Amino acid sequence: MRLVGLALHGAFYALLAVALGPSLLGTEPPAVPALGLLLAAAYGAGVVRRAARPGPWLAVVTALWLALLALDHGFSYVAFPLFFHFLRAMPVRWSLPAVAASTAAVVAAQAAAPGGLTAAKVIGPVAGALVAVLTAYGYAALYRESARRQGLIDDLVRTRDELAAAQREAGRLAERQRLAREIHDTLAQGLSSIVLLARAAETADPATSRAHVREVGRTAADNLAEARRFVRALTPPALEDTPLPEALRRVTARTAPTAAFRLDGEPRALPVETEVALLRLTQEALANVTRHARAEHAAVTLSYLDGEVTLDIYDDGVGFTPGRGPADGRRTFGLHGMRERIAELGGTLTVESAPGEGTAVAAAVPVRPAAPAGPAATEPGALEAA
Ligand SMILES: Nc1ncnc2c1ncn2[C@@H]1O[C@H](COP(=O)(O)OP(=O)(O)O)[C@@H](O)[C@H]1O
Ligand SMILES: [Mg+2]
Repeated sequence: MRLVGLALHGAFYALLAVALGPSLLGTEPPAVPALGLLLAAAYGAGVVRRAARPGPWLAVVTALWLALLALDHGFSYVAFPLFFHFLRAMPVRWSLPAVAASTAAVVAAQAAAPGGLTAAKVIGPVAGALVAVLTAYGYAALYRESARRQGLIDDLVRTRDELAAAQREAGRLAERQRLAREIHDTLAQGLSSIVLLARAAETADPATSRAHVREVGRTAADNLAEARRFVRALTPPALEDTPLPEALRRVTARTAPTAAFRLDGEPRALPVETEVALLRLTQEALANVTRHARAEHAAVTLSYLDGEVTLDIYDDGVGFTPGRGPADGRRTFGLHGMRERIAELGGTLTVESAPGEGTAVAAAVPVRPAAPAGPAATEPGALEAA
């Protein structure tokens, strides 16, 4: 659009200069150069101001041009860029008569010129007007078509995002159902048989009672193994045999722009779900840095404090207005998901950012002060001995 506009203005000034040339050399009445310069200035003023309603400006430019045309038929060619202005600025029912009237004015000027009216002097301006009209229509049709395509593309992108979100949600539900089923089939069954055995042991004779207690021990041991299997199944591979700081360091090192990783405090074992949440948070925040921030530097800081663990992801990129959402209006889930995950652990997530100010995502999750290995580590033998 800009290029077309520039070409049009260039053509206007070039044609005006060609027509003005002889008059500036002094072979014509002084009104011609004066009017010509006035036209050049009026046209330029309209281009610079770029009024929302170009009607009045176009009227002034046309009037000046008609006056020049009346004085000198050399200004005929300036009609051509004006045709395009008519077609661009006015609805069809005005622009076509304007083009026709201007063409008629050009033909009249040519007829009054020395040599009188010839076929060529009619065909030239009419052909010019036709070319202008057809070009303008073709251009408008192309423009409409590409606007329609853009609309379709926007729709597709939105639908794709919604589909991805729905699939993610469906995946989460399926995972929950699977877990519920597994817990029902293994842990819940085991615990209910432990309850029954313990009740029976209360009233049984000592020998049977000992047998029941042994059975309780075996069932509990099985359940413990099941529970550990769950936890392993739920642990992302990145955390399976790697302590959290090491996992975060690796994730950070893989990210562009190179992010720095810092560790504060003494690392200690955290509940699996806390470690998983912090790993996911780091991955998502760094993905945002890569996708959106255009940052030069980024930094990830993990701090083990008394009673809580904090994680900060900072970048010096373009920033954004938190809560506003992306400009294209699609729904996003990254930051929401982070906040939900951290909230489920009783923690808080803050996002500080402003356009041009970089972004800081900070999470704080409460954790029990470092405790020695709990009853989960109790071995079946200990139960039997009890
Ligand atoms: N580090 C960042 N730098 C600049 N903009 C960001 C950053 N993180 C998030 N944003 C902005 O916030 C929006 C929401 O992010 P998010 O919820 O992760 O969704 P998504 O990454 O799918 O767009 C992004 O579209 C982006 O405009
Ligand atoms: Mg994201």
